[in-house]
Amino acid sequence: MKSFYLTTPIYYVNDAPHIGHAYTTVAGDVLTRWHRQRGESVWFLTGTDEHGQKVMRTAEANGVAPQAWADKLVEDAWKPNWRALNIANDDFIRTTEDRHMNRVQTFLTSLKDKGYIYQGDFEGPYCVGCEEFKLPGDLLEGDLCPIHSKPVENVKETNWFFKLSEFTDRLLDHYKKNPEACQPESARNEVVAFLEGGVRDLSISRSTFDWGVPVPWDTDQVVYVWFDALLNYATAVGLTDAPDSEGGKKFAQTWPADVHLVGKDILRFHAVIWPAMLMAADLEVPKKVFAHGWLLVGGEKMSKSKLTGIAPADITDHFGVDAFRYYFLRAIPFGSDGSFSWEDMSARYTSELANDFGNLASRLAAMVEKYCGGVLPAVAQDADLSASLKATVATADSAMEALDFQGGINAIMDYCKQVNGFVTIKEPWILAKDPANQQILEDVLYNTAESLRALAVLLHPVMPATTEILWESLGAKATLGEIGAQKVSEIATWGQLPQGATVTKTPVLFPRLEVKE
Ligand code: MSP
Repeated sequence: MKSFYLTTPIYYVNDAPHIGHAYTTVAGDVLTRWHRQRGESVWFLTGTDEHGQKVMRTAEANGVAPQAWADKLVEDAWKPNWRALNIANDDFIRTTEDRHMNRVQTFLTSLKDKGYIYQGDFEGPYCVGCEEFKLPGDLLEGDLCPIHSKPVENVKETNWFFKLSEFTDRLLDHYKKNPEACQPESARNEVVAFLEGGVRDLSISRSTFDWGVPVPWDTDQVVYVWFDALLNYATAVGLTDAPDSEGGKKFAQTWPADVHLVGKDILRFHAVIWPAMLMAADLEVPKKVFAHGWLLVGGEKMSKSKLTGIAPADITDHFGVDAFRYYFLRAIPFGSDGSFSWEDMSARYTSELANDFGNLASRLAAMVEKYCGGVLPAVAQDADLSASLKATVATADSAMEALDFQGGINAIMDYCKQVNGFVTIKEPWILAKDPANQQILEDVLYNTAESLRALAVLLHPVMPATTEILWESLGAKATLGEIGAQKVSEIATWGQLPQGATVTKTPVLFPRLEVKE
């Protein structure tokens, strides 16, 4: 079975991750968890981009060899951050690994053999922050890079070139025929306009430093860091390996990638250069490149180099990991820019997570304990709740499939609101005053518990740890099995929690926030 294969960008190891990097990685994690719960075979790749001048210069500035610098950042910063954020990636690729470097060399040689690589002279501006050759028209006054606001450097070298320009028409044709291949719409329009403006061949090697993959037939040159980095998506799953080898089989199972998640800053690399490289090698191009927006600080892209980077732990220490995972996807339409605000996050935490969701869970557990001795009453089915659940699951599933995280989460939280309304109207605490109402009371509690069962599964990809706690408190783990094994297609089947399940009080799912000094 072909796996649903999703990648994040591989991040530069010049510094530790900030919440912009975490935003992409969490989005990838939520989407892959959702697809796993659809019962699909899934492969989720992330990793680090370790070559090039940007990393090399940072290592030098810290008086360390680049490999030692990269090792330290990967082990002490990148991997621990992803573990802390509960990221369930299947693989982590580093571009300094042999498995990557060897396959890059084989791939490059094959393009040369096909006549797509030639030697030429390059002269032009280069931004080390972007690791990108710029066109003079791209620059701000004073020859500043528009992204880093720093001066570009002039590069003049004899390099190896890739015949990128030969693929312009094929790429245009591809995006016209397959609008879903580059999303959102605004991103696709940008790429099409860029291609229509004409594309130059690309210098794909550098000779003035040596921190990179050596060009196999000219070892005085190293492969241009982006050409090296883009290949990670394919080298990690066995690119260029013989079809009957382990790598070859993995490649057949995963390629083409279903989604490359990227920030809009690196869209052109992914939607122009990368598919052209694949076309040159007669390989399939990715099914979708999705460019999301930026997290902004003071109206500008948040970045460490501008000293506006916020570490994920600064937020998770206060709000917890699950609230972090929830907030950015809930608050910002995926594809648009969004500003992080402590106030907005606090407000949503309190109203949506603590009040709407957390309180519902703790009220239900307390009432089942008080009125039913902690034992779930007989199955009952409220027609409105079960019908809305069906609609909610359908809406959430198609929204997630379209990477509309906000739309998916909104649909789920609207259902949560409806369940709260149900409890408020039914007033179980009043019903409990008269034993004649015992049956109605039990029905209300069952319907609420069953709704929470569905909410736990629906929100599991977004908030894996909290929903796991809720799952156990509903007695669902003991009766229905692991929460991660619950299928999206079965969420709306009413009446799954069995009568007699033991319901226990949850620890508070979203504790009251401490006042921040
Ligand atoms: N190494 C390249 C990518 C190579 S992929 C073959 C790179 N690395 S990076 O460390 O700069 O990370 C870029 C990615 O981090 C962006 O594409 C985006 O996914 C994420 N973000 C970095 N800053 C961000 C914001 N301020 N806001 C949102 N996402 C941001 O480019």
